[in-house]
Amino acid sequence: MQTSATTELRPLGDSGLLVSPVALGCWPIAGVTTLDTNEADSIATIQKCFDIGVNHLDTAHVYGPNGESENLIRRALGKRRDEIVIATKCGIHYEDGEMITDNRPERLRLECDESLRRLGTDRVELLYLHAPDDKVPLADSAGALRELMESGKTRSVGVSNFTVEQLEAFHAACPISAVQMPYNMLQRDIEQRTIPWCRERHVAIMIYWPLMKGLLAGKLPRSGELDERDNRRKYPMYQDDEWRRNQDFIEQLRNAAALSSHTVAQLVVNWTIGQPGITSALCGAKRPAQIEETAGAMGWTLSAEQRAIIDAALAARGQAAAKRVFT
Ligand SMILES: NC(=O)c1ccc[n+]([C@@H]2O[C@H](COP(=O)([O-])OP(=O)(O)OC[C@H]3O[C@@H](n4cnc5c(N)ncnc54)[C@H](OP(=O)(O)O)[C@@H]3O)[C@@H](O)[C@H]2O)c1
Repeated sequence: MQTSATTELRPLGDSGLLVSPVALGCWPIAGVTTLDTNEADSIATIQKCFDIGVNHLDTAHVYGPNGESENLIRRALGKRRDEIVIATKCGIHYEDGEMITDNRPERLRLECDESLRRLGTDRVELLYLHAPDDKVPLADSAGALRELMESGKTRSVGVSNFTVEQLEAFHAACPISAVQMPYNMLQRDIEQRTIPWCRERHVAIMIYWPLMKGLLAGKLPRSGELDERDNRRKYPMYQDDEWRRNQDFIEQLRNAAALSSHTVAQLVVNWTIGQPGITSALCGAKRPAQIEETAGAMGWTLSAEQRAIIDAALAARGQAAAKRVFT
């Protein structure tokens, strides 16, 4: 397996900030849906980023019922906090064990303050509105995020899980530097409208589920036997015929990855961060070795032969239905 080469940083929209094309997604370390997490490994995973050219962490107020993800980031970064571009999200919180979407301005202000406290910092580089909330006018939430930016609590603002119409409305009230959406080799809906919208406005595109929660790392057993408690069983991509077709697809990718001594995860993420308009792939990990492997997707280019194998595999597989859930 090849590990990380030099990393070329990319602009985070017009914010003046630069981020690595592979970022660490800090949802798994919250331990809500990911099995077998522990504090020592989570902290080591975050700290690994310093050595492998990953300078961007993605978390959220709701990553853990008690802010576990943000708290772990504070403890892991310590005095090196300024070397990292931290993004967090507001607008979804835990209440009695349930995730509640609430985008009222007072709630967003409260969550921002709580996130800063947990992260041990006086500002983040990027604050997203986590998801739209039908109960609250978009302009009110955008106004609150704009004020948080003007007060210096965040350097830039982003939104996540928005339609293009919602992006338009929000952007008119508060300039957006980044949009966060699901995207991977098999779930490419955002190529239709979202990516062109962002590219026209120099807005960064940060994508989640580059590995479709581990499926596209190509290490899960073909038999499909996952632990009874494994939350991934609920996704259609992990079920029945979709699962079998995905495994056939991954077999093709193995041939392409072997040509340059990379792993399937590295091939998949390399392809993803090379797609037009994509700024960074938010790659979840719970062990240092996982983010080290994924970071090895940076710093090299697919050969023509690898591209041909990937294109043929994609054509045979076809696109999977995207499922809009956040966990
Ligand atoms: N804005 C939103 O609404 C939203 C929604 C979802 C996610 N996100 C963000 O996007 C990030 C990415 O999403 P995600 O973490 O759910 O999924 P992901 O990045 O597609 O997959 C992460 C999972 O893949 C497995 N994995 C990672 N590296 C691996 C490797 N080298 N070899 C084998 N398996 C590997 C691990 O699972 P196992 O070890 O358990 O197999 C890991 O938990 C999140 O962490 C979060 O920051 C945002």
